[in-house]
Amino acid sequence: FTAELDTTDIEKGTYPHFMLKEIDEQPFVIRKIIQEYQNENDEIKLDPEIRQAMKDCDRIYIIAAGTSYHAGLLGKQFIEKLANIPVEVHVASEFSYNMPLLSEKPLFVYISQSGETADSRSVLVQTKELGHPALTITNVPGSTLSREADYTMHLHAGPEIAVASTKAYTAQMAVLAILAVDTARAKGIELDFDPMQELGIVATTMEALTDQKEKLEDLAREYLSTTRNCFFIGRGIDYYVGLEGSLKLKEISYIQAEGFAGGELKHGTIALIEDGTPVIALATQKNVNYSIRGNVQEVEARGANSMIISMEGLNKDGDAFVIPQVHDLMTPLVSVIPLQLISYYAALHRDCDVDKPRNLAKSVTVE
Ligand code: G6P
Repeated sequence: FTAELDTTDIEKGTYPHFMLKEIDEQPFVIRKIIQEYQNENDEIKLDPEIRQAMKDCDRIYIIAAGTSYHAGLLGKQFIEKLANIPVEVHVASEFSYNMPLLSEKPLFVYISQSGETADSRSVLVQTKELGHPALTITNVPGSTLSREADYTMHLHAGPEIAVASTKAYTAQMAVLAILAVDTARAKGIELDFDPMQELGIVATTMEALTDQKEKLEDLAREYLSTTRNCFFIGRGIDYYVGLEGSLKLKEISYIQAEGFAGGELKHGTIALIEDGTPVIALATQKNVNYSIRGNVQEVEARGANSMIISMEGLNKDGDAFVIPQVHDLMTPLVSVIPLQLISYYAALHRDCDVDKPRNLAKSVTVE
C-alpha cells in the first residue's frame, strides 16, 4: 500500500511482538523524518501550498481519534507556542454531529495513522462541503483521508502492525513540530528552536530509553502485575502524554487506566485512591515540577503507590525513572517511551495478546 513497503518491515524478525519492534523502531523513524523533511540547504522541505494554507488560516481545527487525537493535543502546543495560530483539537466522532462555531478562515488538519478512520472521514466530507481546506497527516499516503484532502504530509513511519499505536504517535508529533516551525518561519517569527537538531537529540535519547527495557519491565512487574486500576497524572504537556500512556495501558493490558490533569485530581478522582493504587506521575516540565510533586504527595497520603517519571535536571531522590534531558517542547516524544514499554511488559505479565487486543481493530472503518 505504500511505495516504501519492504517485506522486512512487516516481519517480526527476532522480536516476539510487533509492538516491541515498533517501539524500538522509533529512533529510526525520527531520523527518517529529519531526512525527508529537510532539503540540501538544511531548510525545511514542505509543499509550498501547505505553507501557504497554514499562513492563510486564522484558526486550525485538528480532527482525530484515539492515539492520533493525543498527538493532536501536543500538535496544538507546538503550533500555538511556535507559530502563534490558535488551534482546537477535536475527537472526530463528536465533531461530526456537534460542530463548533468555526472561525472565518479555518484550516482542517486530519491526523490518522491509517488514513481510513471513518469518524475522521465523515468530518472531512462535511468540511469539504463547506469549502474549507484540509491537510491530512498520515502514515499511508494513498489512503482515503489522504486522497480526499487537499494536502498530505507523510509520517514515514513504515507499516505499523500492532493494534496499539507507538511509532506513528511519535512520528505524528515530529511532523507536527516541523510544520509548526515552518509556519513560524513563513510568518517571520524568530525562533530559538531548530527542530531538526532537537529531533536528532530526541532520536538519540529514544535509543537510551529503549535500552532500559529490563528496568521498565521491573517497574511493570512491581506496579502493574496484579492491579485492577492505575492512574496517570501530569500537568500541561505531561498531562497529554499521560492520556496516551493510560490509553496504551488499557488497550493492551485491560487494566482500567485513566489520565488526569494533576490539579484536577482532588476535584473528584482522588476518591478512588486506595491503599496500593498505582499512580504514574510525569514530571518533565520545569514550570509545574513543584505542583505535580505536590499532587503526588496528596495521593501518597491516601495510600497510593506512586511511580514518578521525571527528566534529568528536575529529578529527585526516589524517582522511579529518569529521562535524559531534551528540549521542553520535545519531552512528549521521549517521555512516552517508558510508558509504551511499561504497558507492553504489563500486558506480557498478564498474559494478554499484545499485538491483537480483544475488541480492538487497527483501523476502524465504521462510524
Ligand atoms: C483505532 C486504533 C487506535 C487508533 C485509532 C485511530 O481505534 O485501535 O490505535 O489510534 O483507531 O486510528 P488512525 O488510523 O486514524 O490514527
